[in-house]
Amino acid sequence: MKKRFYIETYGCQMNEYDSEILAGILQSHNYILCDSAEEADIILLNTCSVRDNAELKIHSRLGELKHLKDKNPDLKLGVVGCMAQNLKKELIDTKPYVNLILGPDSYRDILKHLGAEEAHVIDTKLSKFEVYDGLFPARKEGVNAWISIMRGCNKFCSYCIVPYTRGRERSRSIESIVDEAKRSVDEGFVEITLLGQNVNSFDHEGDKFPALLEALTKVDGLKRLRYTSPHPQDVDEELMRIHAEYKPLIANHIHLPLQAGSDAVLKAMNRTYTQEHYLKLVDMIRKHVPDMGITTDIIVGFPGESDADFRETLKVMEYIKYDNAYTFKYSPRPYTKAWNMKDNVSELDKSARLTELIKMQKAHTLERLSQMIGKDVEILVETRSKKSSEEMRGRTACNKIVIFPKENYKPKDMITRRITDAQGVTLFSREK
Ligand code: 5AD
Ligand code: SF4
Repeated sequence: MKKRFYIETYGCQMNEYDSEILAGILQSHNYILCDSAEEADIILLNTCSVRDNAELKIHSRLGELKHLKDKNPDLKLGVVGCMAQNLKKELIDTKPYVNLILGPDSYRDILKHLGAEEAHVIDTKLSKFEVYDGLFPARKEGVNAWISIMRGCNKFCSYCIVPYTRGRERSRSIESIVDEAKRSVDEGFVEITLLGQNVNSFDHEGDKFPALLEALTKVDGLKRLRYTSPHPQDVDEELMRIHAEYKPLIANHIHLPLQAGSDAVLKAMNRTYTQEHYLKLVDMIRKHVPDMGITTDIIVGFPGESDADFRETLKVMEYIKYDNAYTFKYSPRPYTKAWNMKDNVSELDKSARLTELIKMQKAHTLERLSQMIGKDVEILVETRSKKSSEEMRGRTACNKIVIFPKENYKPKDMITRRITDAQGVTLFSREK
């Protein structure tokens, strides 16, 4: 009988993509994807280690899944991804019912490991070369196809576990990426989002990121091209010229992680730029693409962050007025340089800073959305609105959600409508 597998994905989009790679391998060998852990013969949790609470979530999920193992001893339970890499043997020692531990570079061998006789398999070798070329991910039907173009990280920000869970940077060839993009469009996807831990550090034998973007603009049938997440260090004028030249096919959105506004904290974080550099970079981006949607990631409470340091973060936010920001409390991670620094900002201060920051960001988000009222914008139609069966939901190139009457629109249509209202994090277009 054919075996059924179920994958639950946590963490970033790279993990979403990797789960599609795993599903692709398993489906092409007669395994069947199912919709719930309860029906599966194989359960894989694709996990994240970026913050402590990401790992806590998995520990408690494994506790729940143990009951299924108790009922069905033949069930194979696997932990894959960053936490598998981070916790390796410790996971099997504390959760002996886990059968399979695979790090992010070991997925090619999943079939061999599933067929193994041993009760436990651990494979967490990191590779200098693995980019999963030649494998085609099993994507769920939809508008957007993720394509991983590079893996790993060489930046070593002092708070970040990723270089230890995903190894060094390596890139695919432009040819193989273009090939995957063409196949995705042939399968019906109209938007592509390029993925990488530092997506714009892409470097394949001297071919750089702007050249890759330009090559992808030639893919017939592609309606929108996005990428995430770039590192500020590798954002240059050439990249912005390509953005301007191929607008709107290359979407006018950039996710530009700030992390902190104070030079002292940036230095301790090993972020390779100062506040002044970062602000000049944003000026340069806006010179080339004035309506660029700019979003960011910010950490509060990094070791040694004083109140004055934190005010510098608010200052940068006030200057840039981000379209959106993902905000986090600092969480010490093993192996990292900051692990050995004293986590000396109190939980209370971290919470207070986060609250202040979120309040400011909410106001900026609404201000940016409100600037679009009265404008005609291109919207890529995605799906039905969750709240009303009479409305649909789509996304602008600058990555904002828009709700509008369904009329005769279908998912994947590119339409133009006038924005009439903004609320919270959403735009509305309720008249033509
Ligand atoms: N603590 C808190 N946030 C972190 N991030 C990465 N490492 C940590 C950490 N140790 C955040 C950064 C990164 C995002 C993906 O997660 O802001 O950009
Ligand atoms: Fe989490 Fe980072 Fe791993 Fe993505 S790469 S799953 S964010 S630890």
